Amino acid sequence: MLAMRAHHGDHTGTHACQTVAMNYRHAFHAGNHADVFKHVVLLAVLDALKRKPAPFMVLDTHAGRGRYSLASSAAQRTGEAQSGVARALGLHSNSEALVRYQQAIRACNPDGGLRVYPGSPLLAAMALREQDRLICRETQSEEAQALAALFAHDRRVQVQAGDGWAAIKALLPPTPRRGLVLIDPPYEAQLAEFDTALAALGEGLRRWSQGVFALWYPIKRGRDIQRFLRRAAQLPAQDILLAELLIRPDDSPLRLNGSGMLLLNPPWRLAEELTATLPELLQAVGEDGAAQRLQWLRREA
Ligand SMILES: C[S@@+](CC[C@H](N)C(=O)[O-])C[C@H]1O[C@@H](n2cnc3c(N)ncnc32)[C@H](O)[C@@H]1O
Repeated sequence: MLAMRAHHGDHTGTHACQTVAMNYRHAFHAGNHADVFKHVVLLAVLDALKRKPAPFMVLDTHAGRGRYSLASSAAQRTGEAQSGVARALGLHSNSEALVRYQQAIRACNPDGGLRVYPGSPLLAAMALREQDRLICRETQSEEAQALAALFAHDRRVQVQAGDGWAAIKALLPPTPRRGLVLIDPPYEAQLAEFDTALAALGEGLRRWSQGVFALWYPIKRGRDIQRFLRRAAQLPAQDILLAELLIRPDDSPLRLNGSGMLLLNPPWRLAEELTATLPELLQAVGEDGAAQRLQWLRREA
């Protein structure tokens, strides 16, 4: 599949406009502000699910390789982790969600440095209990192999090389019927991928109306995602919560100015926890004109 796009993916928002194969590499972006935000929310959702002893499952549809070296040439080239996770670690936080995230990052860097950044599957696996399970899908074979090697000895985790969108049809509803679907696509198809994501959420809810669904999305120019947000509000979930973190004004289509999480059927008290957390995150990774938003698009309860 060919497209006009930046050579290492879309999350930087750079538009080098070379014609290259679609091959987003998360190693360039691991630990950036969008990862920090997404992973803080992910850990908060998992912690909420753990409040009940009943087992749950997590489906990570776009899993990546699970563990990234911040000393790699890819990470060093962009330096994105320095303005993301490094700042988040430096903050003296009062927020439970941020402290939980800091502890997870430190657990991956036991020597006290910051050499390793855990991706969503590793963070999820670290949070899971013995009775819970995790299924990961990743389409790039090199990434999927690295992920499978990471979890070779963890019986709770299954790594599947293949299409994450198809997993929604193939694997839902899961057994047990409690849990989370994390959808974190690379948005290489730009705005078209928002439509794919909405269709997948609709399909997911049709199959598993009680599931928690978390979709990450990039924000470059705010006005470009208004149609997506209007359509998201129409999804047939009981509750729909939107959390966004803009590290600078969302007025340029050339940069990743922030990101959001669309949360369908979010666990109880997640919104309260994020209310305390987003301002601290903003303090950690925000620049001039930074802003945050936490808004119910629908609330039936
Ligand atoms: C943003 S990265 C994921 C990062 C990961 N969720 C994390 O938080 O650490 C997106 C990943 O999706 C993979 N990918 C792209 N298209 C896919 C598809 N159709 N199905 C599954 N994975 C896909 C890419 O190879 C890339 O590793």
